Amino acid sequence: MSEIKNVLVSGGLGYIGSHTICQLVQHNYNPIIVDNLSNSCLEVLNRLEIINNRKFKFYQLDCTNLEELEIVFKENKIDAIIHFAAYKAVGESVKEPLKYYFNNLISYLNIMMYLEKYKVKNFVFSSSATVYGIPNHVPLFETDPVQKATNPYGSTKIMIEEMLEDYSKVHKDINIAILRYFNPIGAHPSGLIGEQPNGIPNNLMPYITQVAIGKLEKLTIFGNDYPTSDGTCIRDYVHVMDLAEGHVLTLNKFQKENTGLVIYNLGTGKGTSVLELVNAYMQANNIKIPYVFGPRRQGDVVSNYASTKKAETELGFKAKYTIYDCCKDSNHFQQLNPNGFVKINK
Ligand code: UFG
Repeated sequence: MSEIKNVLVSGGLGYIGSHTICQLVQHNYNPIIVDNLSNSCLEVLNRLEIINNRKFKFYQLDCTNLEELEIVFKENKIDAIIHFAAYKAVGESVKEPLKYYFNNLISYLNIMMYLEKYKVKNFVFSSSATVYGIPNHVPLFETDPVQKATNPYGSTKIMIEEMLEDYSKVHKDINIAILRYFNPIGAHPSGLIGEQPNGIPNNLMPYITQVAIGKLEKLTIFGNDYPTSDGTCIRDYVHVMDLAEGHVLTLNKFQKENTGLVIYNLGTGKGTSVLELVNAYMQANNIKIPYVFGPRRQGDVVSNYASTKKAETELGFKAKYTIYDCCKDSNHFQQLNPNGFVKINK
């Protein structure tokens, strides 16, 4: 139990990281941003400064670089760490496993070395619903078993969760939260920040938004013969602003009590099919999204969505944005930024 002011946010210019910065500011935390720009860009910092009407301390460095990373801890009294920095593309991780293991695991280990050395008492880890593997029931509870990952990206999440459990057993005074994200979509209401993947998107929402602006011709829906009401897969799509709020609520809890290690699902608790999401996007934005049905994508689970009871009871977390809000905000961001994060003047 201690006051938290300075929060090191690794990967703070990424999609979830940047929205979390805004929510931290709203709740009077002081984020200190670390990012190597491998999957983001400096313009996001500019936009964060516009949205929040303030400057941020920013370190452009790679968390795998032990020496450089220490500068952040030497120059600032860090009260809490939110560790987003990681590679996250499932398909790429299958092709380049070493890259994923090196980056995700070494970044984590380096951060933890300094957490210990500089006596930081609060740590939040970005995990994923991918740790549940192929669910045999929905909704998914935090107590459900973690299953062997089907790809190196997923393995890194499971390995780090295990390492945190081992660490927590002998460091009970450190507050550790593992946040298991479901499918984040949407964007900041300003439309200034949002999801901007490099190249052709792998994930559903950025693919839809790029079809909406005519950058991609049509969406292929991977499989319409699943055992669901319309034959397409079901996911728990959660607005990135809600997800960001989940991190703030976690820090609030850390300030009130010694939690030890805690695990929370961050989702909405509702399943939405691919077809339902596409239809919601068309209705919310009055735009036609041409689509075709294609074969199933290897490794896709039929249905996963969260039980959010634990996060609701213990954190006060409840998703506020509807699927329509998500579709509107994703579209708004994409329409304003058809060519990505082009420099805008303050
Ligand atoms: N989909 C399509 N067409 C596309 C892209 C996706 O039909 O062009 C479908 C997928 O088959 C799936 C659904 O849309 O049924 C969602 O797919 P995403 O790729 O957007 O998301 P996933 O649920 O597959 O993956 C996400 C994260 C992963 C994480 C995983 C499990 O991207 O990092 O959830 O939590 F591991």
